[in-house]
Amino acid sequence: MVYTEETDRQYQESLKKRIAELKRQRKAIIIVHNYQRDEVQEIADITGDSLALSKAAVRTDAEVIVFCGVSFMAESASILNPDKMVLLPVKEAACPMADMINAEKLKAMRNKYPDAAVVCYVNSSASVKAESDIGCTSSNAVEVVRSLKNKRVIFVPDKNLGLYVQSRVPEKEIILWEGFCPSHIRLQEEEVIKTKSEHPDAKFIAHPECNPGVLQLADYICSTAGMFKYVKASDAKEFIIGTEEGMLYRLKKENPGKLFYMPTDHLICPSMKLITLGWVVHSLEMLVYEVKVPEDIASRARKSLERMLEVTGEKSGAAISGV
Ligand code: 13P
Ligand code: SF4
Repeated sequence: MVYTEETDRQYQESLKKRIAELKRQRKAIIIVHNYQRDEVQEIADITGDSLALSKAAVRTDAEVIVFCGVSFMAESASILNPDKMVLLPVKEAACPMADMINAEKLKAMRNKYPDAAVVCYVNSSASVKAESDIGCTSSNAVEVVRSLKNKRVIFVPDKNLGLYVQSRVPEKEIILWEGFCPSHIRLQEEEVIKTKSEHPDAKFIAHPECNPGVLQLADYICSTAGMFKYVKASDAKEFIIGTEEGMLYRLKKENPGKLFYMPTDHLICPSMKLITLGWVVHSLEMLVYEVKVPEDIASRARKSLERMLEVTGEKSGAAISGV
């Protein structure tokens, strides 16, 4: 058989049909992060940022949740939904930043600074969440740190998000962990400056995982969910996107009159891109790969996520925004 664009299109369509059949049979819901491939976003029941997706999982009455994202996200969904089957279609889809710290290293850090509260970014393993006082996301990190009584705060694992929080909450002393996102950290100031000079009317919006020098050039700094809201509400017609390129799918679809530019070709998360329609079919057919967190870890990790939701005035099962 000769493969052409047409045969590829037919193949993708047959996979989508099969997914629709399997979803009905399995009583499944497909939850998809904003960085996923376009064709995976196309079959989503819900798309959103990491935390919004976990909370969306709580509201569903589906029996099976197929989580198209990375493992810490599926873990969070499972922690908040211990009675549901949560599947990650590709078991190797892990966030390298989340793997830059573990529970043992965090305990050692805590012993060094006994007066400090521990805040952990949701991009972390369940066992790191279990050792933390409170969780946070890129959209609520400033609010979470501000809410703490402690003057000192250990912030793990993303040093760029920690530095950004420090700039917004100067009254606290933030002790950073040397973790980073290998995709966002590659974006250079020069690339942003060049793209700005090519599109002088464009607003530059950046994710707080970018370097501080890049963030200084930003018109707006926010989570992936925040970017959709900002673009929709803005009078500007052009935007430079300082985060993973999967965002372009929905940004273009939801804002047909607006133009979007990537400052570099390197803003790709290889882990997110592992998930394909073929793996989603496999996941639904075989009911793999189930993500289950042992209850002793899950119960402590759940507390840290629930404390975060209390600070932001939400409950894990409450109505959500940002999806
Ligand atoms: P959001 O929570 O903003 O979607 O970010 C998740 C992430 O992994 C960013 O790299
Ligand atoms: Fe992790 Fe970076 Fe990928 Fe987000 S973009 S999942 S932080 S590696």
